[in-house]
Amino acid sequence: MSHWHHFRVWRGDQGGGKLEDYPVEVNEGEVVLDIIHRLQQTEANDLACRWNCKAGKCGSCSVEINGKPRLACMTRMSTFADDEVVTVTPLRTFPVIRDLVTDVEFNYVKAREVPAFAPPEGVAPGEYRMQQVDVERSQEFRKCIECYLCQNTCHAVRDHEENKEAFSGPRYLMRIAELDMHPLDAADRKDMAQDDHGLGYCNITKCCTEVCPEHIKITDNALIPMKERVVDRKYDPIVWLGNKLFRR
Ligand code: SF4
Ligand code: F3S
Ligand code: FES
Repeated sequence: MSHWHHFRVWRGDQGGGKLEDYPVEVNEGEVVLDIIHRLQQTEANDLACRWNCKAGKCGSCSVEINGKPRLACMTRMSTFADDEVVTVTPLRTFPVIRDLVTDVEFNYVKAREVPAFAPPEGVAPGEYRMQQVDVERSQEFRKCIECYLCQNTCHAVRDHEENKEAFSGPRYLMRIAELDMHPLDAADRKDMAQDDHGLGYCNITKCCTEVCPEHIKITDNALIPMKERVVDRKYDPIVWLGNKLFRR
């Protein structure tokens, strides 16, 4: 059974834009991305939207729906009341290219700034040994689909363009934490997290965790432990050095 729904979509580009209203047909079981596709087929052929998998796995269809950062392909129309206006706008933290498509280059820049896994010298690939518990710890972080909803949400950059230079955002601080917790990673990630990637800008508001479609506990399992590791280092550099030298 289908019904008509009131949709509102931001249309525009770098030069500016406005919200456009569209009445649109909705069928049972459909998600917001289905409606965007229907608009492209009917009233708004040139509506720009990024998507790939329609299965919540590629991380491409990130938008804001009624002001909340969401994956358009995982947001069911049945979660809205029939008379509720559904407003779809581009991610606010990144520059608009056109309509719902934003330029997420910021995230690629930050990703490249995190030095890769650095195995200890003299241990060849295939000789790496680690405990199952350490494998499992990093598996949670590896579920990330790079949708950048957490990056878009964190107030440290959402309302502060000027912080983008110094702050890598929850997704990449989580990556640093993952590597720091890795028993075979020999790089010093603590000063890097604090000085180069702006861990101190995070005041653990947990908004990143709330929007993560993979339900990764970004704040509790990555950011807070990383902050504790940085603090431990500050209070006791000898312990840190000892851990680095004797941990194998
Ligand atoms: Fe998206 Fe979660 Fe990865 Fe952030 S951590 S980019 S919200 S999947
Ligand atoms: Fe931002 Fe998440 Fe910290 S929203 S402030 S990175 S807990
Ligand atoms: Fe791939 Fe939505 S289209 S996550």
